[in-house]
Amino acid sequence: MPSIVETAASADIDPPAFPPSDEFAASANASAELYDEAERDRLAFWDKQARRLAWETPFGEVLDWSEAPFAKWFVGGKLNVAYNCVDRHVEAGNGDRVAIHWEGEPVGDQRTITYAELKDEVSQAANALTDLGLVAGDRVAIYMPMVPEAIVAMLACARLGVMHSVVFAGFSASALRARVEDAEAKLVITTDGQYRRGKAASLKEAVDEAVKDQECVEHVLVVRRTGIDTAMTEGRDVWWDEVVPKASTDHTPEAFDAEHPLFLLYTSGTTGKPKGIMHTTGGYLTQSSYTHFNVFDVKPETDVYWCTADIGWVTGHTYIVYGPLSNGVTQVVYEGTPTSPTEHRHFEVIEKYGVTIYYTAPTLIRTFMKLGRQIAAEHDLSSLRLLGSVGEPINPEAWRWYRTVFGADKTPIVDTWWQTETGSIMISPLPGVTDAKPGSAMTPLPGISAVIVDDDGKQLEPGTDHGEQANGYLVLDKPWPSMLRGIWGDPERFKETYWSRFAEQGWYFAGDGARYGADGEIWVLGRIDDVMNISGHRISTAEVESALVGHSGVAEAAVVGASDEQTGQAICAFVILKASAKADDANMVEELRAEVAKEISPIAKPREIHVVPELPKTRSGKIMRRLLRDVAEGRELGDTSTLVDPSVFEAIRASK
Ligand code: PRX
Repeated sequence: MPSIVETAASADIDPPAFPPSDEFAASANASAELYDEAERDRLAFWDKQARRLAWETPFGEVLDWSEAPFAKWFVGGKLNVAYNCVDRHVEAGNGDRVAIHWEGEPVGDQRTITYAELKDEVSQAANALTDLGLVAGDRVAIYMPMVPEAIVAMLACARLGVMHSVVFAGFSASALRARVEDAEAKLVITTDGQYRRGKAASLKEAVDEAVKDQECVEHVLVVRRTGIDTAMTEGRDVWWDEVVPKASTDHTPEAFDAEHPLFLLYTSGTTGKPKGIMHTTGGYLTQSSYTHFNVFDVKPETDVYWCTADIGWVTGHTYIVYGPLSNGVTQVVYEGTPTSPTEHRHFEVIEKYGVTIYYTAPTLIRTFMKLGRQIAAEHDLSSLRLLGSVGEPINPEAWRWYRTVFGADKTPIVDTWWQTETGSIMISPLPGVTDAKPGSAMTPLPGISAVIVDDDGKQLEPGTDHGEQANGYLVLDKPWPSMLRGIWGDPERFKETYWSRFAEQGWYFAGDGARYGADGEIWVLGRIDDVMNISGHRISTAEVESALVGHSGVAEAAVVGASDEQTGQAICAFVILKASAKADDANMVEELRAEVAKEISPIAKPREIHVVPELPKTRSGKIMRRLLRDVAEGRELGDTSTLVDPSVFEAIRASK
């Protein structure tokens, strides 16, 4: 891994801070006392947060770290996640509260689901899954658009102690296949089709391709969403509407151990093979619920919360399903693309439901910025009282625009840093309590510890001007409840990926570069490994490279993420073609982009593909991605002294 100093770009450090308003602070869920409490006794603090949930069997020890890095939180405790997210609110007399205002992509398509209705539907789905032969510990792949049944399916799995593995419905059949195979899923839940910009397209066909000849898959459960023609395989495929509504609404949830696995979520690492990040029950729900309550300041009786993520990503898991539902809030779930049928759609949804808390990604904010503030100005956004950002660094300009245009120059913004692996938010301002600086995620939440260190693991001193040495590695130096418990089927890769860089100290290395600002706040600078962040979507260079070399015309490929004004980073590929394929370069580039879409997803299509005669390599044969990044971003080349043949760049430049 290259040294941090030469890789990470420096940020616009030290803009003026936005202090919390007195008005917001007066009724905020969080207070400064939380920091003191956690500081005094971190484990006692988490003990108290865990008690916000309903446990069937109380836990003993808060943390068992004796087999680090394999943690056990809330040892011996038992609980049911779905009970905590649904039944408990009904029992408390809140069954009539709306859990989900669902807004379909076709205008006018909507559903309102109360907590009582959600309880019935989750129970029916749990009974139907049991009838299909699923038992605790099994894996179910969920490959669905943002329909209520997707959330019901996740909760039904949680209720049964079955692990779900949600695969983003924008992924291709081969990406789904790899994930189904790795998890040995027994069931795939999907829809007949999905709407994208008003058009219905099949989804089930991709499932058919993905599960063909996969012995582990016993059934495919299909929700009818679009009504398009769908082939069903006798004995294997089952329509959701033929089994779930008929099932009983009575279902007694069984309590599972705090460390019982809850779900797998595949994410990109630095190799071509995605890794199944494993989360468990008690710690995950404790931190998801605690962070959702305090970072978003939710008042379940009055707020209308909207997180615009997709359940295919971790943000959808934690801040659409488990966080909000464990807190009993009312939320909006929107099925479609943000600008369909017009660029007014998101603003209309905010207005229609009186959304009070809005959580989205910087890429979308930049899209709205580009469309211009007059679109937002045509809508009444005065219900908004808190805004959130996640997924990538937010540039200060977008932060300020977000606050002015969405937030009437007064709402707090929470810039939340976390990862699939961390399970829930780790670094963020606390609204009503801490200052916020545009572009900084600020400081670790109460109960969380994160530090920035240099190559040798020495902590950079917050608030000091380090000049050239200011950039460091972001590490989590103490375990946290919602931490991943491993990579599915690969404990060695788990240790190697996250715990080997600072093995001596026993720290988790997050893969991000960061630096301290003048007041000791953290500025996350982005990934310093071979993981790219495209519109907040995590894609590895190796995955795209392997899709490219999978094409018969490609001899070699190297992929880098280059900065992009709109999407944060964009994929730039450099390929060497085989002699036989050189005839028609122009068509080839399009063919290769299509190949990547087919192998991974349209979101992984390279912005640019350059056909080059050679790739820059070190004497040991390693591709110098850093130099390719310089080329892609039009910068002066960095140090080329370790290259076998520095003149290769003349040829590469000429290809651009
Ligand atoms: O580089 C960081 C960036 O997104 C990565 C995690 O990606 P993923 O596991 O897909 O989860 C995204 C949603 C939590 C991180 O390693 N990242 C996430 N949030 C921020 C961020 N970078 C800067 N600021 C953030 N708020």
